[in-house]
Amino acid sequence: MKKKIKVHLREEGYFIYTGYPLKDIGRLFNKRYGRKILVLSDNKVFPLYGKVVKDSIIEAGKEVIEVIVPPGERQKSLGSAFNILKKCAENNMNRDDTILTLGGGVISDLGGFVASIYMRGINFVAVPTTLLAQVDAAIGGKTGVNLPFGKNLVGSFYQPSFVYMDYSTLSTLPEREMKQGLAEIIKYGIIKSKKIFNLFKNTKTGEIKKHLPFLIEESVRIKKGVVEKDEKEKKGLREILNFGHTLGHAIEISRLSRFSHGECVSLGMAGETYISWRIGLCSEEVYRTVKNILKQHGLFYNFSSIAVDNKMFDYLKYDKKVRQGNIRFVLVKDIGRVESVVVKQEDVKKLIKEMIKDEKDG
Ligand SMILES: NC(=O)c1ccc[n+]([C@@H]2O[C@H](COP(=O)([O-])OP(=O)(O)OC[C@H]3O[C@@H](n4cnc5c(N)ncnc54)[C@H](O)[C@@H]3O)[C@@H](O)[C@H]2O)c1
Ligand SMILES: [Zn+2]
Repeated sequence: MKKKIKVHLREEGYFIYTGYPLKDIGRLFNKRYGRKILVLSDNKVFPLYGKVVKDSIIEAGKEVIEVIVPPGERQKSLGSAFNILKKCAENNMNRDDTILTLGGGVISDLGGFVASIYMRGINFVAVPTTLLAQVDAAIGGKTGVNLPFGKNLVGSFYQPSFVYMDYSTLSTLPEREMKQGLAEIIKYGIIKSKKIFNLFKNTKTGEIKKHLPFLIEESVRIKKGVVEKDEKEKKGLREILNFGHTLGHAIEISRLSRFSHGECVSLGMAGETYISWRIGLCSEEVYRTVKNILKQHGLFYNFSSIAVDNKMFDYLKYDKKVRQGNIRFVLVKDIGRVESVVVKQEDVKKLIKEMIKDEKDG
């Protein structure tokens, strides 16, 4: 079902269109978006959805400039950003014109970043085509690229003019990508929505996709609610979105991309819920339920499966939230309620080792 969700910000707000068909996107391109629309996409997504988007924009009387890059995280670089900036300049795009990103989070992070710096900022429209981008990356105004030293080290807060999502684009998404999005949706359930969580609990393996429109809408509302209160991440309110991500990131970097972000976050959520239970913040039942849900929907939940080594604990040290051996986590009090808690690094290590033992004992 079509829904138009308003994001209220201090300056100008904008709309997120969920459940709208790509073929109608051109209708939104009024005078405000200039004459030239640079469509940035990757060469997996563009052959699938590029033409319908392009035709619709051309029908609205605009000129389309296509920039198609290879898929993958490597495109989030200053080199790619430079190439796109060059395209903008070569095509004499001016301050009224627009960059539209058609693709996953890599494309919206990269294109949004370029839109934020070309001529000190031109219009940016995001058309996310992965579940992860629809519920996370394309919502919230963070854009950026990586440096060889680390992820997202260069970027800006830059809000789009609108976000437009057609659920049918998810029909071609590979299963592994789908699961990355599901992990983030379960995260929203645990931090803020019993409704989401219970839906996962009461839905059989493989059938959750039927509920995607509801789940996406609900997730978008949760993320936009957090962003509205703390647009530039200055008040610490955005922190709750990091649930599962503190351990998750440590696993992600120590495994050096053997696992996807979503897989690491799933495991991170299991581990952080275990810690929550063991320090007395939530009941054992909450932990068992979280773990069962991850299992039920084919997500990672088991530390024994990844052969944890000390490297992972070392990487925890590099987290921005670590001070003198203390790690700040977002932990679970109950489903839908989380709290920021400081845990000693050595306790984390001890507890995760106990969790592994607990897994082995059944
Ligand atoms: N800005 C933010 O707030 C934010 C939040 C979370 C993640 N991110 C960033 O998002 C990126 C990950 O996003 P992602 O998971 O969407 O990755 P992605 O953009 O790499 O897309 C994943 C893969 O799916 C393919 N694909 C995309 N849409 C498809 C479709 N409809 N059908 C078939 N294939 C399709 C892509 O070609 C790619 O190979 C990371 O760089 C991460 O840092 C940003
Ligand atoms: Zn994430």
